[in-house]
Amino acid sequence: MSGDAAGAAGGDWSWVSWHQEYDVPGSGLAQRLAAVQAQIAATLDQAPPGPLRAISMCAGQGRDLIGVLAGHPRGRDVTARLVELDPANAATARERAAAAGLARVEVVTADAAEPAAYAGLVPADLVLACGVFGNITAADIERTVGCCAQLCATGGTVIWTRGRWAPDLVPQICAWFEDRGFERRWVSDPGAGFGAGAPAHRHPAATGGGAADVHVPDRRGDQAEPRPAPAPLASARAANARITGARITSARTAGRAPPAG
Ligand SMILES: C[S@@+](CC[C@H](N)C(=O)[O-])C[C@H]1O[C@@H](n2cnc3c(N)ncnc32)[C@H](O)[C@@H]1O
Repeated sequence: MSGDAAGAAGGDWSWVSWHQEYDVPGSGLAQRLAAVQAQIAATLDQAPPGPLRAISMCAGQGRDLIGVLAGHPRGRDVTARLVELDPANAATARERAAAAGLARVEVVTADAAEPAAYAGLVPADLVLACGVFGNITAADIERTVGCCAQLCATGGTVIWTRGRWAPDLVPQICAWFEDRGFERRWVSDPGAGFGAGAPAHRHPAATGGGAADVHVPDRRGDQAEPRPAPAPLASARAANARITGARITSARTAGRAPPAG
């Protein structure tokens, strides 16, 4: 049974069933997907010739990246790794990549907070953090922005999403990226009906690196437990930086399904 079928059969909410809204034409998630895919395609359009590397943290079923690589002229130049914790979602992503003939797309069933998950693929030309920032606290978003800066190659692009529900953190997230040397390439209209953003940033400064300190906490938004202050960026870049991450899968325990993020 594919991951899709397993989720549908289960009945209860899960990170598998979360993806079903993608299949509803005109839904918020379908519109968000179109926006993210447009930014992925634009990144590939503008990429220099030669091999490219992409990573996706909390990749889900990989609909965004796989869908673009399958049809883009540069799609076969991309070696990608999708990091997804849910085995059924990871299985679906593998099936989708195989069906599209994308031999250079690898899906690992792993915790996105583990730096080993990205070994050999960072710094990457394209970093996807979609459906992440809506499920973690503001402090953890800022920390993860710092992680993205470490995972992204000079000249690379980070594409991320965050719903526009109040408080709208999109402007703050943009500022956090720009504080780290990224340039704003595109930000969704605040009035967009789907209430999500998919800005992309370039990373012009030579601050890309191989060390990752990915923080994917285990609670949603303001319900998260207080955490120690993030380590200074310089510390986080250390090769043996301590990883403080956990799953975001317990968001459901807060009594409501997480939104698109
Ligand atoms: C909101 S969905 C986003 C999926 C995908 N990025 C997208 O936008 O379509 C969040 C995904 O993160 C996965 N996830 C949760 N905690 C994770 C962790 N610690 N490491 C890797 N994946 C995780 C869930 O299983 C789920 O598929």
